[in-house]
Amino acid sequence: MGHGAIEAPVRCAVVGYGAAHVFGRAHGRWIDATPGLEWVAVCDRDQERLEAAREEFPGLETYESVTEMLAHADIDMVSVVTPHFTHAPISIECMEAGKHVVVDKAMCLSVAEADAMIEAGRRNGVMLAVFHARRHDGNFRAIRQAVQSGEIGEVFHIELSAGGFRRPRDWWYSKKALGGGAFYYWGPHAIDWVLDLVGERVVGVNGFYHKLVWHEFDQADQTRAIMRFENGCVADVSFSHVAAVGKPLWRILGTKGGILDTGAGGNQGYQEEITAPPGGSFQMVQTDGEERVETDVPYLESRWLDYYIGVADHLLEGGPVPVTGEDGRRTIAVFEAAERSSQSGQTERVAYEMEAGS
Ligand SMILES: NC(=O)c1ccc[n+]([C@@H]2O[C@H](COP(=O)([O-])OP(=O)(O)OC[C@H]3O[C@@H](n4cnc5c(N)ncnc54)[C@H](O)[C@@H]3O)[C@@H](O)[C@H]2O)c1
Repeated sequence: MGHGAIEAPVRCAVVGYGAAHVFGRAHGRWIDATPGLEWVAVCDRDQERLEAAREEFPGLETYESVTEMLAHADIDMVSVVTPHFTHAPISIECMEAGKHVVVDKAMCLSVAEADAMIEAGRRNGVMLAVFHARRHDGNFRAIRQAVQSGEIGEVFHIELSAGGFRRPRDWWYSKKALGGGAFYYWGPHAIDWVLDLVGERVVGVNGFYHKLVWHEFDQADQTRAIMRFENGCVADVSFSHVAAVGKPLWRILGTKGGILDTGAGGNQGYQEEITAPPGGSFQMVQTDGEERVETDVPYLESRWLDYYIGVADHLLEGGPVPVTGEDGRRTIAVFEAAERSSQSGQTERVAYEMEAGS
């Protein structure tokens, strides 16, 4: 799907100017820093947040509702930075109005919603792009480069884990119907990294969900997905609110070595900066069974702006969509398979085909 039909500047709006991670503002700043894109409007149903936007960026148009914005604003593209349960309805409403859409992670709550979003994009001939910009984190870029250049041989085992022993916060993220569940907060980054790194189809998922401690919340305390890929590689991704002891963020085993990474310093300044200098390093071991060489590999620069540069390139020059709806849908399909498996006790397949076609 190549666009390339609009003329610069592409006029952009951000929906959701939340205070939790000031992430609507981060989108706006990335948009403004991208040649060919222009940030012109903000929509938030909370008057205080609109007031904050006006104070921080005088000159922005502000709207209280998406419908009102679509009726009045002269815009080409909308970035959706609202709670997860609103992603599908807001994105679809924008695409039906002929707007291109960038939707933040988690793309949506279910595969059925992802399918409806992809359909709406196709039907209206507009872009649907999922904001997996953390593929440009400095540590992940360095890990991907090492893995892809064969430094540790063929990767057959990946562990990626985060969390701790902490009561979930009282916010929409912790309500299953609004956030999607414990996996949907940090998990979209983790699953997307793994899918991007391995680059193979997932043939089965085993999910393990525990509900043991934080009973005032209706989401799991710990979620874990063990994914088997077509080439035999296995990835074990977990996020926990009940892990009293931890392990490194990444542990990767290959036929000629391994990687351990804490991730510390890998995305420093994420919400504020356009680009960040390399901030840390990971540990790499290379071995042929006899010799063992340990190296500290510095992270690369974090290049978050590359995401919106890709969006501009798609809309203005007809380049590829940075992360398509189909690409984002895979992460949601893994979550769904993991949750089904946690209930069935069986390995579950990932819903790769669109519902309508299967
Ligand atoms: N990619 C990343 O690294 C990253 C980082 C932080 C947050 N996020 C994502 O950003 C999104 C927002 O998260 P947040 O932490 O900023 O949440 P938040 O609660 O701080 O902000 C959400 C904002 O959306 C507004 N809103 C809700 N429903 C709306 C509607 N129907 N119309 C207009 N505005 C509406 C709320 O008033 C609020 O200001 C989530 O999808 C989250 O996962 C992504």
